[in-house]
Amino acid sequence: MSLQGAAGADELIFYVNGRKIIEKHADPEQMLLSYLRKRLHLTGTKYGCGGGGCGACTVMISTYEPASKKICHYSANACLLPICSLYGVAVTTVEGVGSTKSRVHPVQERLAKCHGSQCGFCTPGMVMSVYTLLRNYPEPTSEQMTAALAGNLCRCTGYRPILDACKTFCKECVCCQSKASCKCCLDHEEDLFDKEEKISTRLYSPDEFQPLDPTQELIFPPELMRMAENQPKRTLFFHGERMTWISPVYLDELLDLKAAHPKAPLIVGNTIVGPQMKFGGMFHPIVFSPARIPDLNVVKCTDDGLTLGAACSLSLVKDILRNAISKLPEEKTKIFYAVLKQLRTLGGEQIRNVASLGGNIVSRKSTSDLNPILAASNCMLNLASRGRKRRIPLSDIFADGVGNNTIMPEEILVSVHIPHSRKGEYISAFRQAPRRENALPIANAGMRVLFEEGTDKIKDLSIFYGGAASTTVHAKQTCWTLTGRQWNEQMLDEASRLILKEIALPGSACGGKVEYKNTLIVSFFYRFFLEVLQSLKTMDSCRYPGIPMEYGSVLQDFQTKMPQSIQIYQDVDQSQSPQDPVGRPIMHQSGIKHATGEAVYIDDLPSVDGELFLAVVTSSRAHAKIMSVDTSEALKGPGVFDIITADDVPATNEFHYSSDPEIIFARNEVICVGQIVCAVVADSDVHAKQAAAKVKIKYEVLEPVILTIEEAIKHNSFFEPKRKLEEGNVDQAFETVDGIFEGEVHIGGQEHFYMETQSVLAIPRGEDKEMDLFVSTQHPAFVQEMVAASLGVPANRIMCHVKRVGGAFGGKILKAGLLASVAAVAANKTNRAVRLILSRGDDMLITGGRHPFIGKYKVGFMNDGRIRAVDAKYYINGGCTPDESVLVAEVSLLKMDNAYKIPNLRCWAYACKTNLPSNTAFRGFGFPQSALVTETWITDIADKTGLSPEKIREINMYKEDEQTPFKQKFDPQNLVRCWNECMEKSAYHSRKTAVEEFNKQNYWKKKGIAIVPMKFPFGLGTRYLSQAAALVHIYTDGSVLLTHGGIELGQGIHTKMIQVASRELNIPMSYIHFCETSTTTVPNACASVGSAGTDVNGMAVKDACQTLMKRLQPIINKNPKGNWNDWIKEAFEQSVSLSATGYFRGYNENMDWEKGEGQPFTYFLYGAACSEVEINCLTGDHKNLQTDIVMDIGCSINPAVDIGQIEGAFVQGIGLYTMEELKYSPEGVLYTRGPDQYKIPAVCDIPERFRVSLLSSSQNPYAIYASKGIGEAGLFLGCSVFFALRDAVTSVRNERGLKKTFAMNSPLTAEQIRAACADDFTKMMTNDESASSISV
Ligand SMILES: Cc1cc2nc3c(=O)[nH]c(=O)nc-3n(C[C@H](O)[C@H](O)[C@H](O)COP(=O)(O)OP(=O)(O)OC[C@H]3O[C@@H](n4cnc5c(N)ncnc54)[C@H](O)[C@@H]3O)c2cc1C
Ligand code: FES
Ligand code: FES
Repeated sequence: MSLQGAAGADELIFYVNGRKIIEKHADPEQMLLSYLRKRLHLTGTKYGCGGGGCGACTVMISTYEPASKKICHYSANACLLPICSLYGVAVTTVEGVGSTKSRVHPVQERLAKCHGSQCGFCTPGMVMSVYTLLRNYPEPTSEQMTAALAGNLCRCTGYRPILDACKTFCKECVCCQSKASCKCCLDHEEDLFDKEEKISTRLYSPDEFQPLDPTQELIFPPELMRMAENQPKRTLFFHGERMTWISPVYLDELLDLKAAHPKAPLIVGNTIVGPQMKFGGMFHPIVFSPARIPDLNVVKCTDDGLTLGAACSLSLVKDILRNAISKLPEEKTKIFYAVLKQLRTLGGEQIRNVASLGGNIVSRKSTSDLNPILAASNCMLNLASRGRKRRIPLSDIFADGVGNNTIMPEEILVSVHIPHSRKGEYISAFRQAPRRENALPIANAGMRVLFEEGTDKIKDLSIFYGGAASTTVHAKQTCWTLTGRQWNEQMLDEASRLILKEIALPGSACGGKVEYKNTLIVSFFYRFFLEVLQSLKTMDSCRYPGIPMEYGSVLQDFQTKMPQSIQIYQDVDQSQSPQDPVGRPIMHQSGIKHATGEAVYIDDLPSVDGELFLAVVTSSRAHAKIMSVDTSEALKGPGVFDIITADDVPATNEFHYSSDPEIIFARNEVICVGQIVCAVVADSDVHAKQAAAKVKIKYEVLEPVILTIEEAIKHNSFFEPKRKLEEGNVDQAFETVDGIFEGEVHIGGQEHFYMETQSVLAIPRGEDKEMDLFVSTQHPAFVQEMVAASLGVPANRIMCHVKRVGGAFGGKILKAGLLASVAAVAANKTNRAVRLILSRGDDMLITGGRHPFIGKYKVGFMNDGRIRAVDAKYYINGGCTPDESVLVAEVSLLKMDNAYKIPNLRCWAYACKTNLPSNTAFRGFGFPQSALVTETWITDIADKTGLSPEKIREINMYKEDEQTPFKQKFDPQNLVRCWNECMEKSAYHSRKTAVEEFNKQNYWKKKGIAIVPMKFPFGLGTRYLSQAAALVHIYTDGSVLLTHGGIELGQGIHTKMIQVASRELNIPMSYIHFCETSTTTVPNACASVGSAGTDVNGMAVKDACQTLMKRLQPIINKNPKGNWNDWIKEAFEQSVSLSATGYFRGYNENMDWEKGEGQPFTYFLYGAACSEVEINCLTGDHKNLQTDIVMDIGCSINPAVDIGQIEGAFVQGIGLYTMEELKYSPEGVLYTRGPDQYKIPAVCDIPERFRVSLLSSSQNPYAIYASKGIGEAGLFLGCSVFFALRDAVTSVRNERGLKKTFAMNSPLTAEQIRAACADDFTKMMTNDESASSISV
């Protein structure tokens, strides 16, 4: 068989949502995601990362197997599914599940009604994962449900409400922890609360839910069944622009093809080849798809094991192993069990459903979770090439530990034999990853020992590691040396040394984490040693005593459980009208549309005639002169229209908002990696990206290159002004204190990771230089201003529209303005509509994030725990342009006291100017960093004085009428209430005792608990930044069109504004519609930032509605029995204007930095969080066990939305403080450019028990309806997990007699935890690590 045999291309036939698709020109390079979105205009399936890591693009694939007559449904990531792999299958997208036009499916309905969507961008993916599970298991278990969602990321909700919705489909009810007593907390809530308060725990009403009716689902297309049954299978050919896809039916055909094209890869799941082609610049002109070849799909149970075809999906392998384990005696299934353990956490379900066993093995990645265990277990590979078949041990392909090329290019893997385990044989697999689920491992291992019969004498030992080199490695020498030894302490000691000698990475190894990986390598063996000792005891407890009791728990891995949660809030007064929605848990106004995929984001807007696509070309140097830009090759690319540079900007290319400019296109010099140098516009995004890669830029590197805060300090590189806050007399106070200590905390940056990447559609209107801009931004007025300035036109020609934003968190203000300018300049030059949708990698590279932070402090304290003096310096890494860095530094100063009275204080804040992409606003805006530093030295005082951290917190907490270091007065009563309630609700003291007890009884696992208070000042520092306006129209049919200056970022602002308008106009919410935020309806609106959106826009909406009601009042008075429609009709007939604007001047806030005094804030939010964790001292892994939050947010306008904000922010805080790590090369290139390298919290990271209570009877005279702005505050409370981890580590260190004071930086990752839990294994490590990646 050769390519010549393929006269023409085949038609690709498949179904999408019950509709037959015949694609005559199927391009092998096209993935299903772009096909659905661009070709079929099904935009419900979203792009979040393009690499299989986020689940936003999840669809359901259904296949029919004629032999068994079975239909199989599985979820898959459309971004990695080549359309050519879909021949004969049925695809279901979110549109096929349900819609507002036909029927909303129960999954969609429940996700929306349980408040499971905020920005809604992840929601269609969530719907599809759950829907697919329900198609296979209409009553799933909670484990199946959490597993189904492991591959779906959400950046907004903190997952709790999503899981709440999902639980309603599960067989068992998992509503709260009291379930253990068969009594649900919801059934006896009166036990939990003070009977005086009218408390509610219901955020939705399950009675409203439609039942799940499996008979209502789309059927598998009968035509596809007929095709599968009747049509003889034949080789399929698809030819694209650059690539050919061949799908043979018989093994011999494939072997012939492989012989002719040995370099062409086989594509099964495309989970390796796909990302390599997309992100690694790899290209294959020919690929083979072996999925239809029966030999590669074989499943055979033999006397000595299982033979599985190489094309079997990992999910199928999982099912087969599970089935075999349930049928065979335990002795025979130890290998199956170990492989199954790895498969549980390998990728997400969407990956496992398509990824093949053969692909995992043959690609020989060092991150393969299967190869170490399969190699250690003596699995065999059945290989074939033309005219030749052979069987080799799998371990052979790693013979030297560096990847021997023992599988020839023309050879293919047909099947894998996994043997039964034998008597006296013990097998285990281990892995440690940056996140427990859906994350490639940092290191893993497979180990097997066979003893001489009836003894503990090693007959055969096999140890393989992943993560240590470029492929799986074999500790061959070690195994050989230890053969014949007894399984005892001496053997362990020698084994550890031998393993390190043979396997350990050198300090210079690429990928970093060298010491950690080396520690894991020996720790894994130790764990194996313990496991085997324990098993030997089971065999003969007289001869083998097993392991000490306190070691036992380390043999249990942390599991993801369906979290139990409860949300408590004060119900509305009974006298409130049932129609008045204020204070009630109203569903997000777009909730149902999020869940049906009908909610429109920028890239979902239909294409405009003649539209072009833009791809940016960015700098690859951190600081350099641009010597030349060669665009000649790029311009020759197919479909390329033009290349846009700084010379094409008609007016302003550099914006001087402060000392240094913000720049659209770099002109002569680049100041960071990722700076935009030019942009390609082409007829498709693919062509634009291909051409962008061909632009050649020559640089001359300039000195200095400043990346870190330390380097900025060395070069005195700062943005001005530097700020100082001083109170009392610090120097004098230091002379009278009992003790002084100094310390330093490093807090890493954070990527916003909004699920919708930065997006713009610029449409020139063709006359008067008008341009419509559709932008994913928090600040349309600013975008309008920047674009107008860059084009040199008045702002009244630029119309900026925002319907909704798929998450922002502070990242879509200035950066969105710059990107909109790039697109607008291109649209202006080409006079065509231009669409710019950043890829996830570009977004992460270009747009900056939260400022990395260093806090240096000197603290004076008394032995009774009182703080007397603090002298601190804060440095933030601002990156290459000012953006809002000085403001962030100021806020970090103003909020540094958190909840504590510090009588003598001197604190400086510096914004460092470096050659990193410019950092920007991020939820919390400096507070999460400076307050973490404060909480760190609070904990240090506890260590020094021997008092508990909570005691130090209580002693120093603001108590009565107080004033801040900048002399703003406030009443901290609710701070103390939150603290006390949190103490009580979390049962802190008894749980602390239980934690201590657990720690006494467990050596390798420890628990930790911490409670942290919070004072979160609300305000934007100056009046004009908090002004707001609204526009309300009433139409003659009585319907109301509402708009205001706030942007819907997922925080539910429009829902709340409709609630406000409903109350003020005294009409049902259903009468009121919100269409979009636009500079044409509300000019000069301030950014939706700083928790202020509802406060300020609510006032403006209220004002507009009250104006209208004033006009209507005489008509209502005249006809009090009339209804709304009568009054509106009458008003129109009386020529009463039915349109009004509303305005709010903003809060009177100010700060005088010269005097160090002011009222920069209007009011304060308070809260407290208590978290409990458990750590594994051998790996550094941890589990979040419980979090209790009590938050004072005044009178909530919408408790469901507000609790959602608290939980979502809290989980984002867990990410900041414990997981999310940005890594750069020493040259300043960001390594972490997608969800595969940068881990945000997933379902497995949320606390097993998660309770949020809103403080009751709290009033706030300053904001609408006595509410408080809540968008940001909860993030900081994530640090309760950080301090709980620190508490667990302290317990380890105390037990081991290690130094009492130790530094813990953020994020407190498994790597740091492992290093802090020093033991004999960590001592074995050499300290010669020279970093190959840096944290800044
Ligand atoms: C988001 C994500 C998360 C992941 N997480 C994990 C993880 O946690 N642990 C882990 O181990 N892996 C993980 N992976 C990697 C991946 O899923 C697996 O390694 C997978 O099994 C590869 O199979 P595939 O069918 O998708 O390979 P493909 O991409 O289709 O092919 C991979 C390579 O294998 C070759 N090949 C495939 N089959 C054969 C055969 N029969 N004979 C000869 N050559 C063959 C191909 O020529 C190709 O070069 C992850 C991948 C992604 C995208
Ligand atoms: S877009 Fe497909 S998984 Fe992220
Ligand atoms: S609602 Fe999940 S990402 Fe926004």
